[in-house]
Amino acid sequence: MNDFVFQSPTRFVFGRDFADRVGEEVAALGAQHALLVYGGGSVVRTGLLDRVEASLDSADVTYAELAGVRPNPELGLVRKGIDLARVEKVDLVLAVGGGSVIDCSKAIAFGVPYQGDVWDFFSCKASVRECLPIACVLTIPAAGSEASASCVISNDALSLKRGTSSDAFRPRLAIMDPRLTFTLPQYQTAAGVTDIICHICERFFSSAGAVPVTDNIACGIIRAVMDAATAVTEKPDDYDARATIMWSGTLAHNDLCGCGRAAAAGKRAGGWESHGLEHEISAHHPEVAHGAGLAVILPAWMRYVWHADPTRFLAFAKGVFDVEPMDKTDEGTQDAVTYAIDELQRFFVGLGMPRALADLGLSPTDVDAWLGTLRQNKGERFGELMPLTMDDARAIYLSAF
Ligand code: NZQ
Ligand code: ZN
Repeated sequence: MNDFVFQSPTRFVFGRDFADRVGEEVAALGAQHALLVYGGGSVVRTGLLDRVEASLDSADVTYAELAGVRPNPELGLVRKGIDLARVEKVDLVLAVGGGSVIDCSKAIAFGVPYQGDVWDFFSCKASVRECLPIACVLTIPAAGSEASASCVISNDALSLKRGTSSDAFRPRLAIMDPRLTFTLPQYQTAAGVTDIICHICERFFSSAGAVPVTDNIACGIIRAVMDAATAVTEKPDDYDARATIMWSGTLAHNDLCGCGRAAAAGKRAGGWESHGLEHEISAHHPEVAHGAGLAVILPAWMRYVWHADPTRFLAFAKGVFDVEPMDKTDEGTQDAVTYAIDELQRFFVGLGMPRALADLGLSPTDVDAWLGTLRQNKGERFGELMPLTMDDARAIYLSAF
């Protein structure tokens, strides 16, 4: 087991109707005047926004509002939010929504105390040291941003989608009521579940070898979330299944599943190859949901690299699908690994996710543009289990059409 630092400082308030408690919870963090950030309208339609506002009112926490965060949030609104937060002199940023709203809120929270342009943090010109406190009411389990040290923002002018990382902006508070997710369209539930599984896989397929405690946690969460996803497909208001998915999303990305698997203490485990490849797709095509892109890219990446570490893939096959090779031959290994990858893809497709990039309206002629920005973001080679050249990346993209 490699050395690690694990820090998950978020206060999780998890369960029925806890959104109505957000006022007292943020007041306990010292908030008096918050910036309330939300997305394209789901929180208005579901009545959640009214509940949050009523709760803030009753706790005497005043607020300014920033609406309209789109999926794959864009830099322009972040800059607008920073200006508003400064004028209003807010002392906390409260995100009500999913990963996009939380990431927009994070970027505002660390953009406010910074003198330069917030994009500096995404172009490696600055690292986050100061940040307003962040709280969230989560409405979709997916990105894991409610507890993660990551923030991902798109810059449409440059066709770039980039992340920055720091423990400084892990949210202080996450209010998580699984009932808020009953209204999710199946497609969003499925995209979220895919992202959750991928966050675990990115860490599982690091080059650290076996770390039994972490690997068992990882495979156990994947199995639990797969069962729960199947249950909510049939019954969208299955509370326990929704709760399982919601808590899994947090544990998938708060780094619990990476303990002992990172190359160095304080680093994130894994090479994040599928995320690297997918982010170029949703950067160039913001209408593509991150999880939907991953549903295609993750199996394609697995098929391309598994032979670099068959033992690791056999551990995945056994831990998630209880499959072992029929015999110790190369063929036996290939059959077991291929079965596991095929099963994973069948599961994603069964939830309503695309099987191929063409199903997302994408074309092989788009690949050159993705490779151009991938090279800008990652250099000539990236990844860990099997470092990928740009030729490898091209081959994986093309194999996914
Ligand atoms: O905008 P509204 O109207 O609220 O609708 C949203 C949005 O269209 C809808 N939705 C959310 N909760 C709902 C709901 N609809 C009905 N009922 C509800 N309860 O769902 C849609 C997707 O929301 P979004 O926030 O975009 O989803 P997600 O949480 O998957 O976030 C995706 C973003 O997070 C980034 C992705 O790249 C993408 O930009 N990621 C962030 C990470 C992080 N910060 O740690 C890690 C991830 O790997 C990921 O890269
Ligand atoms: Zn993700």
